[in-house]
Amino acid sequence: MTQAPDATNPDLADERRAAMVDRLVADGWISGPEVEAAFRTVPRHLFVPEGTPLEKAYDADQSVVAKAGPHGVSMSTVSAPWLQAHMIAQAGIAPGMKVLEVGSGGYNASLLAHVVGDQGQVVTVDIDPEVTARATAGLGAAGYGDRVIVVTADAEHGVPAYADYDAIVVTVGAWDLAPAWLEQLTDGGVIVVPLRMNTFTRSLALRRSGEHWVSTSAQLCGFVPMQGLGARKERRLQMRDPAGGVVTLLFDETEIDNPHSLAGALEHGPVHAWSGVTIPDQGEFGDLHLWLAGFLPGFCRVEAGPGTPMAAEGVCRTWFPFGAVLDDSFGVMELRESDLPGGDREFGARGYGPHATEAAEALVAQIKAWDVHGRQIPDDAFAYWPAGTTIPASDAPVGQFHKIHGTATITWPPVS
Ligand SMILES: C[S@@+](CC[C@H](N)C(=O)[O-])C[C@H]1O[C@@H](n2cnc3c(N)ncnc32)[C@H](O)[C@@H]1O
Repeated sequence: MTQAPDATNPDLADERRAAMVDRLVADGWISGPEVEAAFRTVPRHLFVPEGTPLEKAYDADQSVVAKAGPHGVSMSTVSAPWLQAHMIAQAGIAPGMKVLEVGSGGYNASLLAHVVGDQGQVVTVDIDPEVTARATAGLGAAGYGDRVIVVTADAEHGVPAYADYDAIVVTVGAWDLAPAWLEQLTDGGVIVVPLRMNTFTRSLALRRSGEHWVSTSAQLCGFVPMQGLGARKERRLQMRDPAGGVVTLLFDETEIDNPHSLAGALEHGPVHAWSGVTIPDQGEFGDLHLWLAGFLPGFCRVEAGPGTPMAAEGVCRTWFPFGAVLDDSFGVMELRESDLPGGDREFGARGYGPHATEAAEALVAQIKAWDVHGRQIPDDAFAYWPAGTTIPASDAPVGQFHKIHGTATITWPPVS
């Protein structure tokens, strides 16, 4: 398996590993001495594909692709060290715990095994037999072969044979929480899961609170998508502009009543609307997209294809290519230089279609609402309500994301 060419130089691997861990400690990702010891001990280079240079294997910030699928899409990666450390911290992994890892590779399972120690247990499950074979080989080579149980299965069912777990760490992008995961946790158990909410993923640490689950932390992240029963693809709607280019709207949870009515939308517009809401250069506005995803009807992501005027103007080249459909029209967010007090850039929207003005103004109304209610999301803002539980009425703004097995919510602080 999977030795890097310079893996034959153990001193260099040790040196790179030490540097990586020093970075993780300095940046605050490592949560305690046991976790630090695990990162200092487990040889990450034994779990990356053959030929991976040591500096890439031990880059604290980067994942390494372990298996690519059709069209170069990553199917399996060795996740980025900072994120692995952070998810271990989110889960509060400690000696003696029984842990289920969803999505394998071997490296993270070795870290978990090192932290839980002889009195604990780690089970790792992956849907792909190639991945579990690679994980088994790496675990053996790294000396953790007899400390981790490797299972090949669709994790939608959890791994009931070894339940209950003190912690479940999901290391693959999930659109919903499989009921089996929640059922297979101990009463005080925690699930750490990168949950997608209307196109945006946060690694949430969720703990039981009565009948529902409440976050104790949330971290922006990205993961390869879930396969098997829990897989969920974005839907794409393509529109031609008058010059022949293609603009694509991508929908996750949004349902559009009559997608065909958008066919000619690009023939009208753009019409611009501005919000007066500003940010300083490099300023924080990280959660605006979650607000829009939660409250803007018709929410979508927008891709402007080559040759379209939108692409030429760089409208979707920012990291917030968001928009919303309104009947036969749609709006897309944009930014302009601003000399308004308090900020260097102003948020706005452009609209296309017979109701271009209304579509742009609908977006701007929610940008303004975010400015008043939404700039701060507390750690306990996220919750998951299994199907059949009642979400109580609230005076605070609550974004709801309807899943198959329950509803995810984000509750912003009420305005005082
Ligand atoms: C990011 S990788 C896991 C990384 C790994 N934990 C590590 O040590 O860095 C995600 C894995 O999830 C697996 N996966 C995807 N869907 C799955 C499912 N339904 N059940 C189990 N595993 C799944 C993929 O095959 C892939 O290997």
